[in-house]
Amino acid sequence: MSTSAQLRDALTDKLTEGGTLADPEWRAAVRAIPRELFTGAYFRVVEGSIPTACRVVREGEPGWLEGVYSDETLITQLDGRVRPDDVAEGTVTGSFSSSSTLPSLVLRMWQQLGAETGHRVLEIGTGTGYSTALGAHRLGDANLTSVEYDPVVGGAAAAALKAVGLAPRLIIGDGLRGDPDGGPYDRLIATCSVRYLPLPWLHQVKPGGKILVTLSGWSYANALALLEVTGPGEATGRFLPGYTSFMIARPHDRPPRPALALLPGDERPSLIDPTKLGDWTGSWVAQLAAPSAERMGAGAEQILWDVSTGSQARTAPDGKGGWTVVQRGPVRLWDRVEQAVRDWQAAGEPHQERFGITVSAAGQRVWLDGEDGPGWDLPI
Ligand SMILES: C[S@@+](CC[C@H](N)C(=O)[O-])C[C@H]1O[C@@H](n2cnc3c(N)ncnc32)[C@H](O)[C@@H]1O
Repeated sequence: MSTSAQLRDALTDKLTEGGTLADPEWRAAVRAIPRELFTGAYFRVVEGSIPTACRVVREGEPGWLEGVYSDETLITQLDGRVRPDDVAEGTVTGSFSSSSTLPSLVLRMWQQLGAETGHRVLEIGTGTGYSTALGAHRLGDANLTSVEYDPVVGGAAAAALKAVGLAPRLIIGDGLRGDPDGGPYDRLIATCSVRYLPLPWLHQVKPGGKILVTLSGWSYANALALLEVTGPGEATGRFLPGYTSFMIARPHDRPPRPALALLPGDERPSLIDPTKLGDWTGSWVAQLAAPSAERMGAGAEQILWDVSTGSQARTAPDGKGGWTVVQRGPVRLWDRVEQAVRDWQAAGEPHQERFGITVSAAGQRVWLDGEDGPGWDLPI
């Protein structure tokens, strides 16, 4: 059986060979920080379960430590309250509300952020504290502040950081407010996603500073953006290559809704193939066009439901090789999605890296191929 130090070395080598760990100082951080002190017991998804069920992998059980050093996200809380130690036996269901993000993504993001010695960095979403520990090891305790919304999660992270001898500044609170007392910062990194850029961040990061954050929404589509702050309250940036997703910041989560009831509406042919919403970027474009809608369904049978207005859209094959859409309510969800998907298709269905974002006093806009290209306003 391998020891923690051996598994850390093996993970470091794997990430180095995979190209994730070019920087020797980040390599040293991975070798030094025992991830198991941060994760403890964790949830593992039971493959093929519908609805998704998890079982607990308990500290010390066979495979626990190897799981800790796999390059995988480890779920550590469900539904904003259930921790692995709360589950006596069997399996449990619930939505994922805290985790230790997979190490390759944590390290890739720290490097994409361009965080260097001497930078003051604000992290949003401490979670288990593992990414915080890597950051504090590399940048120094005094240069890192991390904010966690959930006091129980934040308390466990604080204990783990103390156990490894690190003392970054920790805040329990809503990271969407940033750190009103601690700025200005050179860098801000978020390991929860947002529907739009919280305005306090754009005042707490210095002009010329960077913000790395995943934009997501109520249809569960995600895109990682790197922005440069261009002035107080202003920033611009691009979306990055790859496929990054994070759980949404708790205050940005969609409101609770009743069980789905499909209602009658106006039917017409669909001008786009609804299966395009199954594409990584296609689903994100649809979410930009209808940000208050939740996307359900699959394949050619898509359902969009905006609980705030009662608007619905649902598509189906028409039996002749095309598709129909039924829409109801004040927001014609499919009209909007259709136009956005057609703009994206006209550009050749590019990945998100051809999109950018501009934030100013006038609003927040995501655009394709330049500010003059097709664009969508974020729901601030
Ligand atoms: C993916 S986990 C963080 C992973 C963590 N960086 C790690 O490596 O262990 C996301 C965390 O963001 C936290 N979170 C959600 N909304 C937040 C908010 N508004 N402010 C601060 N933290 C928030 C969640 O409670 C959760 O612990």
